[in-house]
Amino acid sequence: MFHKKSIEQLLLEAGASGEGHLKRTLSSFNLIALGVGAIIGAGLFSLTGIAAAENAGPAVTISFVLAAVACAFAGLCYAEFASMIPVAGSAYTYSYATLGEFMAWIIGWDLVLEYALGAATVSVSWSRYLLEILHKYNIDLPHQLVVSPWETVRLGDGTIIDGGLINLPAILIVLLLSFVLMRGTRESAAINNVLVVVKITVVVLFIVLGWNHINPDNYVPYIPENTGAFENFGWTGISTGAAVVFFAFIGFDAVSTAAQEAKNPQKGMPIGIIGSLIVCVILYVLFAHVMTGLVNYKDFAGDAKPAATAFAMTGYSFLQDGLIIAILAGYTSVLLVMLMGQSRVFYTMAKDGLLPQFFCAIHKKFYTPWKTNLFFMVFVSLFAGFVPVSDLGHMVSIGTLFAFALVCFGILVLRKRLPNAERPFRTPWVPVVPILGILVCVYLMYSLPSESWIRLAGWMLLGILVYFFYGKRHSKIRQVREENNS
Ligand code: ALA
Repeated sequence: MFHKKSIEQLLLEAGASGEGHLKRTLSSFNLIALGVGAIIGAGLFSLTGIAAAENAGPAVTISFVLAAVACAFAGLCYAEFASMIPVAGSAYTYSYATLGEFMAWIIGWDLVLEYALGAATVSVSWSRYLLEILHKYNIDLPHQLVVSPWETVRLGDGTIIDGGLINLPAILIVLLLSFVLMRGTRESAAINNVLVVVKITVVVLFIVLGWNHINPDNYVPYIPENTGAFENFGWTGISTGAAVVFFAFIGFDAVSTAAQEAKNPQKGMPIGIIGSLIVCVILYVLFAHVMTGLVNYKDFAGDAKPAATAFAMTGYSFLQDGLIIAILAGYTSVLLVMLMGQSRVFYTMAKDGLLPQFFCAIHKKFYTPWKTNLFFMVFVSLFAGFVPVSDLGHMVSIGTLFAFALVCFGILVLRKRLPNAERPFRTPWVPVVPILGILVCVYLMYSLPSESWIRLAGWMLLGILVYFFYGKRHSKIRQVREENNS
């Protein structure tokens, strides 16, 4: 259970599996763009409203800062790992090198919550914005087919869609992008740069155009009084809000999955990870400030496309459709990165023998792990079609926070185990930064609703069972050791 892979072995395997042939084409700028491309999405355009209405009020801006701090600690730890072990697999691979097979398994299993459920969450939010724009042009799909059971959707003109059967648009976008991934369409840095420019333009336009229409009354009270429930307003509400909007920062770790394609990973990784975080936190705080200034936070209750609702207050109605279309396009890149990241992690785990070989089967013509893509297409679709967006968002946040805490812990272990290894980037102030990273992540986890904990525990329990009944018995590293011993 505690078998570890040496860093030399990891670097060697990355070369041997053909991944070494990936071209080193990404500059630091490309990496920041990649990060921002993967980061800005449903968290900002959808969860900001939910967090303001239910948890923090206008002080959701403080929630964003708090979430960014948690990410910065983890980001600094990620940067050390990514510059030292610039191979695919991200947190799963780092843990295999530091904490051993079992913890690597746990983190790999946990990453399903981040990537697969993250993709499901984004697709549900995508579907909300799609409904909004279709409704505007009087195209109303049967309500049973556009909303999952247990979810209520309120459109911009006040139309309520209450509990349908299945969220078909969310499923369709997942199917479409999964097929794109299976066909081997890789997000090129150039396309991604274009998408990032579109997204940033939308965010900046929203801030600039919205600023003059802010109604200062909406900021009173800036921190609404706590209602007695931990998560509803006051300072505890702000921390719950931080745990909710934490989702908006997820994706910066995706930069580390491109480590093998970075021109100069030693320098590029830290710049890409920390740079994209800095760009995003500045934009997020300003965006949230304008959003809660345009519309009273209470009015965002049950509104899963608050950016459109808020923008409607500016009077620039002719830009409204453009805003929604740009948001839809922006979500697409997030979805692609998440679905791709998920398949990469399961591919790497299957290569190590911890999952059936099915997951690392490569398509003969397209050179993609297409069976994994297919599997997750079904898995993600089930969640996208039937689970409400806030439940999904909480699951993603708790799973990712857990992964980040483990990465921080990994740095502590790595510094002990290999104090003299070459470190192109060193996390500053170790052990303070990783310890603070762990504490903030655990605190944010604690701020999430208790159902998320129960679901996290259930998912992890399932993972542990799979490990003992499958992974442990088929682990390649274990087999090699046993052969060597006999
Ligand atoms: N950070 C990504 C988003 O908000 C996952 O959509």
